[in-house]
Amino acid sequence: MEGVKFGTLSDLSSLVSELSPYRTVVLTNTTVERLWLGKLEGIDAETIVIPDGEEHKNIETVKEIWARLQGLGFTRKSLLIGLGGGVITDIAGFVASTYMRGTMLGLVPTTLLAQVDAAIGGKTGVNFNGKNMIGTFYLPDFVLIAHETLSTLPREELLNGMAEVVKYGVLDGNVHSLLKRLDSVDDVNPELVRACAGVKLRVVEEDLREGGKRRVLNLGHTTAHAIEKLSNYTIKHGFAVSIGLMVAAKVGETMYGFDPGKVGELLEKFGLPTRLPFEPDEVLREMRLDKKSWYGKLTFVVPVDIGEVTVEEVEEDVVRRALEAVR
Ligand SMILES: NC(=O)c1ccc[n+]([C@@H]2O[C@H](COP(=O)([O-])OP(=O)(O)OC[C@H]3O[C@@H](n4cnc5c(N)ncnc54)[C@H](O)[C@@H]3O)[C@@H](O)[C@H]2O)c1
Repeated sequence: MEGVKFGTLSDLSSLVSELSPYRTVVLTNTTVERLWLGKLEGIDAETIVIPDGEEHKNIETVKEIWARLQGLGFTRKSLLIGLGGGVITDIAGFVASTYMRGTMLGLVPTTLLAQVDAAIGGKTGVNFNGKNMIGTFYLPDFVLIAHETLSTLPREELLNGMAEVVKYGVLDGNVHSLLKRLDSVDDVNPELVRACAGVKLRVVEEDLREGGKRRVLNLGHTTAHAIEKLSNYTIKHGFAVSIGLMVAAKVGETMYGFDPGKVGELLEKFGLPTRLPFEPDEVLREMRLDKKSWYGKLTFVVPVDIGEVTVEEVEEDVVRRALEAVR
């Protein structure tokens, strides 16, 4: 897991000094500034604080950050550190990859979702007439996963990330056994986060630009995207993924005799939703509008067994039956 360090915030200063940056700037938001900025020790850095929220993940915010960096004399040999959830790590990555054609980048993800997903794999981006429409691939010089930062995370945010964790539990047998041992979402531990980040890293190392293998990471996401859209984005991504995982499990049951209980039991234990909040026909219509639909077939990641999935075109009828089974 080159470039990804599992430790504590106290490890940051040595990661920074190894890079010997000309200037260091920490990008964070108002919430994380209040909770965690003061805990960064031993680094000589300026700070840029942006407002909290997905609605600020846009090109206007990026322009303001570019301007601030210019004002601070930030150069290509300088280091931008993104300290925060996925919104911050996405923006920091985008800014670092575009400012002067690329500066040094460090990420310190502080949500469960960012630690197991958003900060891993080199995708950056901002919203522009659609989610993540503008972005780049840019690998950070380091990612520091500091478990203590999760201690202040609201429960809803922990659950939001937990759905992706359960997704890794379908993709990987080791993550699945670790999850079986937990009693609740409060038991999320560094070993589990490390195992999940490791699954993503391995997939991404084989396929940075989503040609093939990386698509397995979309497990549960065909349905999730439809649910998010139908809810006008009032249902959080993780909760939509949770329902999507259940649908995928049911598709796997029909096609390969996969046991959906292996997913459902975990989701229920953690208090994640497993029931479809919309009519199957509405969901199917939304899926068809998505670019992934093609002549009555939908591209799905289908569980065959724990640790084994296929990516294939699935007949709409099979998907309809799965949707009906979880309605
Ligand atoms: N680049 C990728 O591969 C990738 C993958 C998945 C998601 N994403 C992106 O990630 C974003 C979602 O990330 P997210 O779920 O982390 O959302 P987020 O960054 O909005 O964080 C969620 C909330 O938690 C707060 N927060 C962050 N750390 C905290 C802490 N330690 N204690 C208390 N509160 C804290 C944030 O201020 C925010 O209010 C989306 O924009 C999505 O597009 C990117």
